[in-house]
Amino acid sequence: MAQTPNLKVTIGTLTLPNPVLVCSGTYGFGEEFADIIDITKLGGIITKSITLRPKKGNPPQRIVETPSGMLNAIGLQNPGIDGFIKDKLPFLKKLKIPVIVNIAGDTPDEYAELARRVESLGVAAALELNISCPNVKKGGIAFGIDPHVTFEVVSGVRKATRLPVVTKLSPNVTDIVFLAKVAIDAGSDALSLINTLLGMSIDIQKMRPHIANITGGLSGPAIRPVAVRMIWQVARTYDIPIIGMGGVEDAASAVELLLAGASAVSVGTANFYNPRAPLEIVDGIRKYLVEKRIEDVNELRKSLKV
Ligand SMILES: Cc1cc2nc3c(=O)[nH]c(=O)nc-3n(C[C@H](O)[C@H](O)[C@H](O)COP(=O)(O)O)c2cc1C
Repeated sequence: MAQTPNLKVTIGTLTLPNPVLVCSGTYGFGEEFADIIDITKLGGIITKSITLRPKKGNPPQRIVETPSGMLNAIGLQNPGIDGFIKDKLPFLKKLKIPVIVNIAGDTPDEYAELARRVESLGVAAALELNISCPNVKKGGIAFGIDPHVTFEVVSGVRKATRLPVVTKLSPNVTDIVFLAKVAIDAGSDALSLINTLLGMSIDIQKMRPHIANITGGLSGPAIRPVAVRMIWQVARTYDIPIIGMGGVEDAASAVELLLAGASAVSVGTANFYNPRAPLEIVDGIRKYLVEKRIEDVNELRKSLKV
C-alpha cells in the first residue's frame, strides 16, 4: 500500500494539487495569510467576491459569534474590479496554485461583464459565481433563490467566458436539487455547496439585533449537517463536480463532505480561529487515506454506504 495516496482532484477542466481550498470572503485575496502559512501548499484559493464597482459594505456590527458558528453581514465589501487589478492582481499572478476568482453582480449583465474582464486578466483558473447576493432589479431578492434568474445569470456568464464556471448555490431554498439542475442546464461546469444560511440573533439586554443589517449569513460547524445533506442530495442525482463547504474545520469534517459526494472541500469560518486548519486538513486527509488503505482521494466520493 502506497504511503502517498493521490490527492489530486479535477473540477471540470481544472486540476487541483489537493482537494483543500479556502472559502471566498474568509481569506481575502490570499496575501493576507501568506505570512502565517505556506499558502502554496493549498489546493487553491477562492478570492473574496469582487464587484464591478468598489463596495464599502454594511455598517458595523457585521459579525457575531453564535453557537458553533457565526453570523456575518459584511455586505460584499471589496475594492471592485479596478482595485482588484491594481492592488491584488500582482500577488495573485505570482502565486503558483490555482486561483478561483469569485464574482458578484447587481444584475445578470454585470456578472457577464465581470466574467469577461476577469478572464482577460489571465489569472483565474476558474470563476465562482456568488449568486446569494441581492438582485437590484428585482427588489433585492437574492439571485440564487429564483430559478429563472439563476438560469439567466449562469447562462450569461457561460456565453461570456471559456473559463470553468462554478456556481455557488444558496442553501436558502426548499429544493437544492432543482436549483442545481437549473445551474447545470445553464452551463455550470461545477457547483459550490453551500453558501451561508440566512439567520438572525438578538442582544436581549439592548433588545436589538446584534447585527446592524438585522439578518446575516450563518456559517461554521453549526451548518455542516445542512451542507452534508445538500451535497449528498445533489451528488446522488447529478454527475457534476462539487466543491463542498460549510463547517469544515478539521480532516474529519473535510472527509465527511468528501464522502457525501464533494470532489474538493473549502475551509471558511475555521480560518478565523485556526489559520493553519487548511494545511492540517491536507495532512489529515492523507493520514486518513493511508489508515483506510485508500490509494486515491477521488475514491471517497464513491465510498458512502447508505
Ligand atoms: C465573514 C464571511 C464573509 C463571506 N464572504 C463571502 C463572499 O464574499 N462571497 C461568497 O461567495 N461567500 C462568502 N462567504 C461564504 C463562505 O464562502 C462559505 O460559503 C460559508 O461561510 C460556509 O463555509 P464555512 O462554514 O466553512 O464558513 C463568507 C463567509 C463569511 C463567514
